[in-house]
Parts: sequence; structure tokens; C-alpha cells
Amino acid sequence: MAFKVTRRAAMKGGALALAAAPVIGFGRPAHADPIVIKFSHVVSPDAPKGKSALLFKQLAEKYTDGKVTVEVYPNSSLYKDKEELEALQLGSVQLLAPSISKFGPLGVKEFDVFDLPFLMSDDTHARQMMASPMMADLNKKLEDKGVTPLAYWDNGSHVYTANVPLIMPDDFRGLKMRIQGSKVLDAVARELGAIPQIIAFGELYQALQTGVADGEDNVPSNVWTQKLYDVQKHLTVSHHGRLTYSLITNKKFWDGLPPDIRPGLDRAVKESTEFFDDTAAKDNVDALDKIKATGKVEMHAQTPAEKQAWIAKLMPVHKEMEGRFGKDFIEKIYKASGFVPPQS
Ligand code: SIN
Repeated sequence: MAFKVTRRAAMKGGALALAAAPVIGFGRPAHADPIVIKFSHVVSPDAPKGKSALLFKQLAEKYTDGKVTVEVYPNSSLYKDKEELEALQLGSVQLLAPSISKFGPLGVKEFDVFDLPFLMSDDTHARQMMASPMMADLNKKLEDKGVTPLAYWDNGSHVYTANVPLIMPDDFRGLKMRIQGSKVLDAVARELGAIPQIIAFGELYQALQTGVADGEDNVPSNVWTQKLYDVQKHLTVSHHGRLTYSLITNKKFWDGLPPDIRPGLDRAVKESTEFFDDTAAKDNVDALDKIKATGKVEMHAQTPAEKQAWIAKLMPVHKEMEGRFGKDFIEKIYKASGFVPPQS
């Protein structure tokens, strides 16, 4: 099939414009306008995802000899959390890398399972999990919604921040805690006695500044690049959950790309994924140091006893979520992630 993709069509939100233009070579007109890929995300250009998006742009344009132009929109400047997923399904934007804890509105509830507390202990287990064969079923569920996952980018483990010290589980009681959309994160907050508030990432700083939320959990590189240390007084290095992104595209758009374009884009995806993997862990370690150096936030490293108390408090969420996901599915996830539930 021969496609002509016009820049104007892409700008208007139509991913592909089909036209009966004369074609040569691989099926693109001799002087076709570049295919425009809009890549929208919600973090700073200096965060691991922001840097990887810029690298993807550079590589995609290079490997397609300028036949593709990538426009990167950072910091929720084009869309916020929920809108960006709708925009992708409508074809108004072609690439996103949202947290998989935000996939609920797509109608794929299974991705929330990765938020089970303390499920993925370290980078190796997390990456092993996202590369495991069982992801094929989940990827298919996304494709059924018109969304193709191109890669998973694991951005490390979460810390909690708040305006009060969070040492023991009881410290959460009555706090308004910002969460992403996941039902598991909702259950975690409730188990801790907190009041969960779903707030878009682009509104997080203001929510913490104005007291709409008292605290939140995130990776240190987001706490640093969003300057959350200006509006939070305490940080606990709790590693209770992870932040994993999926680099996703509109399936129709991706499947409809001319054959001379896809190999260059596939290579750009692969190399920007490798870059992300190399960058995220390092940036998170650096970010903790930089946050500490501001002197604005009291940092708390958990003792083994505190950690045990958090695990004991939050394991009932695993049990509760059997009702949502099924015991078999949760056990499959344990196996793929290497998680061994503590003996109760
Ligand atoms: C992101 O890193 O994309 C945002 C994570 C969040 O919403 O907390």
C-alpha cells in the first residue's frame, strides 16, 4: 500500500493522510513532507524520560534521513495524564511514555498489579518482569485498545515525601496522599489510613504547595526535577513500589508507517531504551544527593525493623487484590518478578 503522510494532517491530529500521490521506491512520494511524530510526556526534559524522548527524536530523525520529524512536548505542555491517553487513541499524538499505573482509563486494569507493594525489589527483578513472556498477554490487551507498546522503561523505586516524617505506617493516618490512578495504589493509601487523592502529575507541585495533598510517592529524579523538595519537608527512602513506563504508540499509525520508515524507528526505540536503562538508576541516586544538599528536606533511611513493619502493614493489600485480579494471576506475577511473599 502506498501512503503519503502530510505534515498538515499530522499537525491537525490525523496521524496518517492517505492520498493518491505518485510514488517511487519504497512507496513514498519523491518529495513527501516529513512524517510528524508528536511525543508528549509529563516530566521535565531533564528527567530520565525527558532525556530519552529527546534522544529518540535525534535518533529517529537521523535513522530515517529526515523523513520523520519528532516534536517532543515535555512537562504536560500538550496533555496531562488522562488526556494524553485519549489523545493517543484518537491519533492526535503518536508517542507517549506514561506510567503503567495510569493505564486504568484505557480499560486494561491488569497493569495495576505491578503496584502491589514491595513486589519488585530491585532493577534486575523489575526488568526481568517487564521482559517476561507473560507480558505478551498484557501487551495484547493494550493492542486491543488500539495502543501498541514499543518498550518498557523502568524508572526505579519510589520514595515517599510529605510534610511530616513518615517513619512507621501509622504516620500516614489522616494524610491526604496524592496517588496515580491505579486501584492498587488507592488500596495502599487506604491500608495506611491515608486519604488517596488522584492528581495529575502536572498539578502535583501546586497540590502540595496549596495543601490539596500532604504527601506523595515518586522516584527521586521526579522529586528533584519537579522541585517537590520546595514544598515537602520529609522524604523516606522506602522502595515500596516502582515507576515503570511503557513507550506506547497508536497502533493504526505504527502499523501504517511506510516500510522504509519502520526499521529506523525500531532502531531509535531500541537505542533510546538502552539509554533510558543506563540513565534512570544513576539519575535517581544523584537526585537523592542533590535533594539532600538543598537542606530543605529531612531524609530518612528505613531501619530493617521499620521496613518489616511497612511490609507487614501492606501485605493485606496483596490478599485484597486477589479479588480484583484473581489469585492465579497474582501468583503468575510473583513468579515472573521473583517475589516471595513473607510467611504470615
Ligand atoms: C512520570 O514520571 O511520568 C509521572 C509519575 C507520576 O505521575 O507520579
